[in-house]
Amino acid sequence: MRIYEWLDSRLKLTRLERTLLDEPIPGGASWIYVFGSATLFLFVLQAITGMFLAIYYVPSPDAAYDTVQFIQHEVSFGWFVRGLHHWGASAVMVAIGLHLLQVYLYGAYKPPREPMWIVGVLLLLFMMAFGFTGYLLPWDQNAYWATQVGTNMVASVPMIGDLLVRLLRGGESLGALTLSRFFALHVLFLPTLLVSGVVLHLFILRRAGPAGPWSQERARQGSEPFYPRQVFMDAVVVLGVYLTVAGLAMTVPFPLADRADPADNTFTPVPEWYFLFFYQFLKYMSGPLEPLATWVLPALFILGLLLLPFLDRNPERRPLARPVAVSAGVAFLLVVFALLGISLKNLYAIPREDPSVARGRMLYAQNHCAACHRLHGEGGKVGPDLSYVGDERPDRDWHLRHFRDPQSVSPGSIMPKFPLTDKDITDLSGYMLSLKSQATKGAGT
Ligand code: HEC
Repeated sequence: MRIYEWLDSRLKLTRLERTLLDEPIPGGASWIYVFGSATLFLFVLQAITGMFLAIYYVPSPDAAYDTVQFIQHEVSFGWFVRGLHHWGASAVMVAIGLHLLQVYLYGAYKPPREPMWIVGVLLLLFMMAFGFTGYLLPWDQNAYWATQVGTNMVASVPMIGDLLVRLLRGGESLGALTLSRFFALHVLFLPTLLVSGVVLHLFILRRAGPAGPWSQERARQGSEPFYPRQVFMDAVVVLGVYLTVAGLAMTVPFPLADRADPADNTFTPVPEWYFLFFYQFLKYMSGPLEPLATWVLPALFILGLLLLPFLDRNPERRPLARPVAVSAGVAFLLVVFALLGISLKNLYAIPREDPSVARGRMLYAQNHCAACHRLHGEGGKVGPDLSYVGDERPDRDWHLRHFRDPQSVSPGSIMPKFPLTDKDITDLSGYMLSLKSQATKGAGT
């Protein structure tokens, strides 16, 4: 208490505290106003987990994948911090989506809060840029090929498309320069822009005041300060959000795909779920319609979103008195969720890897077969390259006999006789036979 008084006499903390906590909320505190705070909390969580990941991460094609593996498997709690960062990124998108929906439904973007809405839309765009740049950093197959698809889209912009792609990639192709560029954007440029945007967003909130309920009568019934009830509601939701993200990080494993292989253009990448609806939309827009999907519609959409407070001139805030705005919003959501649904259904239709083959893959790692064998450029050179052994040796019996005793089929072989059970041998042979040049590469791992 003494220390507080000492500081207070110098820094005038009490006055600041009052300014921060006494903000009046028209119509009183409500659970519907919590999404902004939840989003802000998740930004902070991303910043903190990101700083810890940056301690080990190295943004170069030679090292990135290994450093992420190291974080995942060697660093104490590395898997947990990485999980928090991964699921936190998804949670931010959900929180922003709900926040946006609430603001839209309540007509809170209407005068005098237009500047706040515009800054909010910019924050949403920064968040998507965070997602896009962050996806490349682990440098696995998904990261590499999804970014390839994403940067290719930019090329369809007329006149400046090629220039934009070169700017994004740092050259003709996706490589070391792209990775360091995306890393710099992800950890330096975007955080600076985001923090400035958040400060501006909150500054405008304090100058223009919160919008409160859509009904004038309820707003006129009086207001309530931010502290204590709204602070309490926000805190409860923030705790719930943290527990959900931490629970996901602890229970749902999030493995890396194979190391990025720029030569393997048969790989079909899967983007993050919040880009999936767009990915599905792209599939319908092939040929001459493609530029429509890759830049015309997205550009119009962003422009429309930015200008929304000026396009929607209806002064009414009650949803029932705004049929056009509300039905447009509902139609948009229906389209997005339908596209997302179709896309998820297609993803599940990809044949899952046979569990026996998956177990064979695990045994391959456990028995350190890679000490002598190579798979797509990884591993030792003592034994034959096994990348396409399923094509070269399609005979299951040969593999069974070979694993039981290598020398019985390859006299003089230096491959050791591993202490494997019959099931191990069956699964390993299944895995060997699955290593073909036309394997279902997108699935599994
Ligand atoms: C000490 C090095 C060494 C280790 C460890 C090793 N191998 Fe081998 N492997 C060889 C050599 C040498 C050959 C070539 C001679 C032969 O066919 O046995 C070979 C051959 C093979 C072949 C036949 C490939 C072909 O195209 O003829 C398969 C399949 C194979 N190994 C799988 C495995 C698996 C699975 C493991 C792990 C359980 C493993 N190897 C561990 C050295 C090794």
